[in-house]
Amino acid sequence: MPCDNKLTFNIRQVSKICRYPKQDNMQTKLPAKGQSPALLLQTLESFKAQDLPWQSGRVFGYVYDAGAESQQLLRQAYSNFLSENALDPTVFPSLLKLENDVVGIAANLLHGDTAVGNFTTGGTESIMLALKTARDFAREKHPQITQPEVVLPHTAHAAFHKACHFLGLKPVVIPVDLTTFRAIPEQFVEATTENTILWVASAPSYAHGVIDPIEAIAQLALQTKVLFHVDACVGGFYLPFAQQLGYPIPAFDFSVKGVTSMSADFHKFGYAAKGASVVLHHHADMRKYQLFVNSSWAGYTMINTTVLSTKSGGSLAACWAILHYLGTEGYQQHVAATMQATQQIRQHLANHPHLFVLGNPDMNLLAIASRSFSVFRLADAMRRRGWYVQPQLASASSVDNIHLSVNPSNVPHIAEFLQDLDAAVAEIVAEAKPAVDLAPILAILQSGTPDALAQISALLGISGQDLPEDLEAINTLLSQLPPAVREFFLKDFANQLYVD
Ligand SMILES: Cc1ncc(COP(=O)(O)O)c(C=O)c1O
Repeated sequence: MPCDNKLTFNIRQVSKICRYPKQDNMQTKLPAKGQSPALLLQTLESFKAQDLPWQSGRVFGYVYDAGAESQQLLRQAYSNFLSENALDPTVFPSLLKLENDVVGIAANLLHGDTAVGNFTTGGTESIMLALKTARDFAREKHPQITQPEVVLPHTAHAAFHKACHFLGLKPVVIPVDLTTFRAIPEQFVEATTENTILWVASAPSYAHGVIDPIEAIAQLALQTKVLFHVDACVGGFYLPFAQQLGYPIPAFDFSVKGVTSMSADFHKFGYAAKGASVVLHHHADMRKYQLFVNSSWAGYTMINTTVLSTKSGGSLAACWAILHYLGTEGYQQHVAATMQATQQIRQHLANHPHLFVLGNPDMNLLAIASRSFSVFRLADAMRRRGWYVQPQLASASSVDNIHLSVNPSNVPHIAEFLQDLDAAVAEIVAEAKPAVDLAPILAILQSGTPDALAQISALLGISGQDLPEDLEAINTLLSQLPPAVREFFLKDFANQLYVD
């Protein structure tokens, strides 16, 4: 079932063919004279022309939108606190009040009676802080650990790998059940060594939308005496309301003894403006390992709760506003509507001749795979019909698939989406085009000539920063390459992208 990455290139082979950004002096320069605000705002608006049309209701990801009135409120609240600086809450007590309010709401929803936490700019920052807390706790309590390890299932978000990379921790990745895509509790124990400082599980994982068996893992974490982080970045402001509505959601939060920290994003299904998440610890004792304080340099005394120091109060104010605007009732309504829409999609795909859902998702996130053709072809065909679905490359836990995060904005369009999905499938089946032929690309790769990457880019239709309309060939190639080689190519692409 999972991909074994059929191609065998290694980094040594491909590193010779890396492109380097162009050297000519094309950078944008600061204009000599300022321009009018009206003209600048108009120009900014025009830049959006090529963006994903997220307001259309035809985009299943990236933007979590609770409707026009919510958007208006977010903009207003954000801009009202744009210039306030959360660097120093003693100087801006309004921001301290707002932060304590939103963190309190999160802790309460996640059953953290004794929990404390802080507002952060996103899931990645919350995760970074949870791992820093575990690392610094281990430094104090277990100083013999010199190479700290974090045990995480293959389905844990990439942000954990990033945090490990930044914090000098070793990620120890354990396999998941290849049918349910859930973590296997015993695997945590097996992977634990004298260097283990933290276990991680998801509620739910982004890729497949399934909740790991938190209670079973927590019980083992207690027995093993190891800290246990539950990543509820995508589920933290969805699952509590689904539970309240009676959906069969297993216990996943601080109601489970043994869960010591959590991450939950307001800017996902909390519908806050981007830059809004929370990191929570089950007890105040733990937070001191999260903080950074410096009073030895020449300037002001610095007390940081988060990675960022100077930060706008905008996202915090917008977050506070949306929580109070929607209230329990509003969130429940959005959960009910999106759960129903998800069910409609799942029913349509049950017994489908070509497509199937991976696992049994617990909320409104779906991974759809194909029995008959490349799902990347389907993603392209849907994009031509004006829909955006997110390609997910094959990995050690699953085959190529496309991801849908079903949002309130998608709800009125589900019937039309399913019609177009059927039309796209029928078109692909009727066309019966052969699979993408990677042979010419592989031949160039094997040749190892210095301009190989440029040749491959030309073959794939990549020109400078522009990608071709159809991404099937690029996704197929990436899917087949070993992850380290994929990552090498992706870094090269990013290196090209941010030039000018
Ligand atoms: C489960 C999970 N964890 C962490 C993250 C990272 O969050 P962010 O993109 O806000 O940094 C995501 C983002 O999708 C997620 O779904």
